[in-house]
Amino acid sequence: MREFILYSRLGRTDTNWTSLHDAGRLDIVYECAVASLFLSHAIRKNVTFHAILNGPPAPPLHLKIDGATLHDVRTDQETWKQILKKLLSCKPHPGITTHKTSFEALIKTKANEAKIYVLEERGKPISETTINIKPIFVLGDHVGLPKKAESFALRYGEKISLGKQPYLAASCITILNYLLDKSTKH
Ligand SMILES: C[S@@+](CC[C@H](N)C(=O)[O-])C[C@H]1O[C@@H](n2cnc3c(N)ncnc32)[C@H](O)[C@@H]1O
Repeated sequence: MREFILYSRLGRTDTNWTSLHDAGRLDIVYECAVASLFLSHAIRKNVTFHAILNGPPAPPLHLKIDGATLHDVRTDQETWKQILKKLLSCKPHPGITTHKTSFEALIKTKANEAKIYVLEERGKPISETTINIKPIFVLGDHVGLPKKAESFALRYGEKISLGKQPYLAASCITILNYLLDKSTKH
């Protein structure tokens, strides 16, 4: 089991938009969801992806996508634009739930279940870190994790780095999935 939590600073919480990019960078939510949950021609049943949308008009909104029950999806942006519009109109999609949960509340709940790893360039090198069997990884969007959110998450975990290069959040998820796939215990 592995989980990814994306903090989206400006991701819109309504359907009043035409492009994912202009909807407070919901394109990053889409890219991270696909990087987290998809293999070629298969869904990763052992992955859950969370995004906390903090954009207007009704933040926060917690999207939870469970690879074990996710259905009726493809990997293209148009499909996810329709799925996100549907969810933001309070309509259901198999394997995805929405709740009015804040980042802090989600972290607090998750910290009871597993170890939290906050992704940041200046963290401890991942090569020197033992990753727990059910890890939870926290990432920021294009602006990065707000300091307050980072400090809160670090009460329950540690800061880890994939190196000095600033990668896209979705690239970080791909790297993490690759590293965990190589290790037999995850
Ligand atoms: C596009 S980056 C944000 C860059 C932003 N300028 C900043 O200062 O955080 C998005 C997220 O990916 C993660 N990230 C990017 N590069 C990383 C690296 N080398 N090691 C660990 N995490 C990284 C961090 O969680 C970051 O918040």
